[in-house]
Amino acid sequence: MYIGLDLGTSGVKALLIDDAQKIVGSANAPLEVSRPHSGWSEQNPQDWLDATAEALSELKKSHPAEMGKVSGIGLSGQMHGATLLDASDKPLRPCILWNDTRSHVEAAALDADPKFRKLTGNIVFPGFTAPKLAWVKSNEPDIFAATRKVLLPKDYLRLWLTGEHVSEMSDAAGTAWLDVEKRRWDASLLAATALDESHMPRLVEGTEVSGSLRRELCERFGFDNAPVVAGGAGDNAASACGAGTVAPGSAFLSLGTSGVLFAANEAYLPNPESAVHTFCHALPGTWHQMGVILSATDSLNWLSGITGRSAGELTAALGENLKAPGRATFVPYLSGERTPHNDAAIRGGFCGLSHQDDAAALTQAVLEGVAFAFRDNLEALKAAGTTLTRATAIGGGSRSRYWLKAIATALQIELDIPAEGDFGAAFGAARLGLIAANGGDALSVCQPPVITETIEPDEALTDAFENAYLRYRALYPALRGVEQ
Ligand code: XUL
Repeated sequence: MYIGLDLGTSGVKALLIDDAQKIVGSANAPLEVSRPHSGWSEQNPQDWLDATAEALSELKKSHPAEMGKVSGIGLSGQMHGATLLDASDKPLRPCILWNDTRSHVEAAALDADPKFRKLTGNIVFPGFTAPKLAWVKSNEPDIFAATRKVLLPKDYLRLWLTGEHVSEMSDAAGTAWLDVEKRRWDASLLAATALDESHMPRLVEGTEVSGSLRRELCERFGFDNAPVVAGGAGDNAASACGAGTVAPGSAFLSLGTSGVLFAANEAYLPNPESAVHTFCHALPGTWHQMGVILSATDSLNWLSGITGRSAGELTAALGENLKAPGRATFVPYLSGERTPHNDAAIRGGFCGLSHQDDAAALTQAVLEGVAFAFRDNLEALKAAGTTLTRATAIGGGSRSRYWLKAIATALQIELDIPAEGDFGAAFGAARLGLIAANGGDALSVCQPPVITETIEPDEALTDAFENAYLRYRALYPALRGVEQ
C-alpha cells in the first residue's frame, strides 16, 4: 500500500493505492487562505499539519488494515510558498503563498540581474520564492535575520513527517535559487537574496527516498512499519506523474484554482522571454515546460461568490452545447497574470456588457476568458519550441463539458478525458511513493490513464472563437493603459 499526500491551496488530500495502483481510499481536509491586503495570500503552516493529520486519521478509521501495510508515501504540494523557520524549526510568520504578488518590485529587481534567467531558465516571477525573501528582508528585517531555513510548503510537511530538511528538484526549480539544468542550488543566486546553502534543504530526485516516517506518527496513523517518504514533486509535476505526462511530447491541461498547460520534455529547453516556466520534472534527468494562469476555477468561484450560485449551478445553466462567444468578454486577471504577461499589478474585468446580459452570459464570458488565457499559454509554449495538438484534461473544472469544449475550440487542440478515477497530484505522489519504496521503473509506473472520451474543437464555431480571441488579446494592453 502507498499514500499520496497533496498539500493543495484549498485542502489536503490523502490517497491510498495498492500495488496494482488501484485507489483503495481517500480523505480530504479543507484549508483557508488569508488575504490581509490586496495581492497578499498567506496560510498558517500549522494548518497544513492539522489538515494532514485529519486526512490520515480519517483513512486510519476507514481502512485500518490497509493503512497498516503502507510502505511508501509520496508528497505533492502547492509550489513556491516561503515557509521561514527559526533555529528550532518554528515558523516565523505565515507562509507567503504562490499566488501572493506583494513582491513584484523585488521580483523585477532580481529578474533584471541576468544571472537569474541564465541559471534558472525562468523569469523571476513575483510568485516565486526568492523575491518573497527579498520582500521579507526589506519589510520584516527581524524575521529575515532570525530565518535559518526556507522550506516550500510540502517540504515543511515532510519535516513534520520525517524530521528531515529535504526538497526535490521539481519544486526547488520554482524558487529561483536552483540551477535548473544542473539540478543543484546556486550559491550566487542565493547570495543575491542574502542567503546561502545552509538556509536550503538537501535535494533529492522526486523518485528517491527522502526519509522515513517518525515512529510517533506511525503509531498515531496506524502504520505497522515506518513507510519511506519519497522526494515527491511540486503539484504540477506530481499531476503529470498521475496523468502519465512523463514521456516527451505528452501534455496536460489542468483546470484547477490556477490553470496549467504542461508539456514533458526530454531536455532542458528554457525560453524565459515567452514567460513559460521551465522546471525539472519529478523523474531524474527530465524537465518540463508549462504556462500558468493564476485564476482559472478561481475566476468561476469568484463569480459564484458574487451571484450566490455554486460553480456547478452556474455551468449547468449553460447546457452542454457550445455557444458562439457573445460581446461580453472577461479577462481573468483577478490576482494578476503569469504567462504570458508576467504582470502582478494587472487586474481582471468584464467588457462589452449589455442590458440583456444575465448571470448565464457572465458565466459564459468567464469560461471563455479562461479558455482564451489558455490559448495565450499555448502560443507561449509554441514560442518556446513546443507545439501541442492534444492534451489530457484534468482538475476540478474539467467536469464541465462546456468549459472543455470552449477550450478545445479556442486552442484548436483535442482534449482527452481520462476514465473515471483520480489522476491528479495525490495519485502522482502515491506513484512516487511506490517507486521510492520498491525501486520500480519510473516510466512504466507512470503510465497514461485510459481515455474514455476526446473533446474535439467545434469546427462550426472556430471562426467565432478566433474573432473573440482577437478581441480578448486587445484587452490586456488596453487595461494596462487604463490602470497605469
Ligand atoms: C505553479 C504554481 C501553481 C501552484 C498551485 O508554478 O504556482 O500551479 O503550484 O498550487
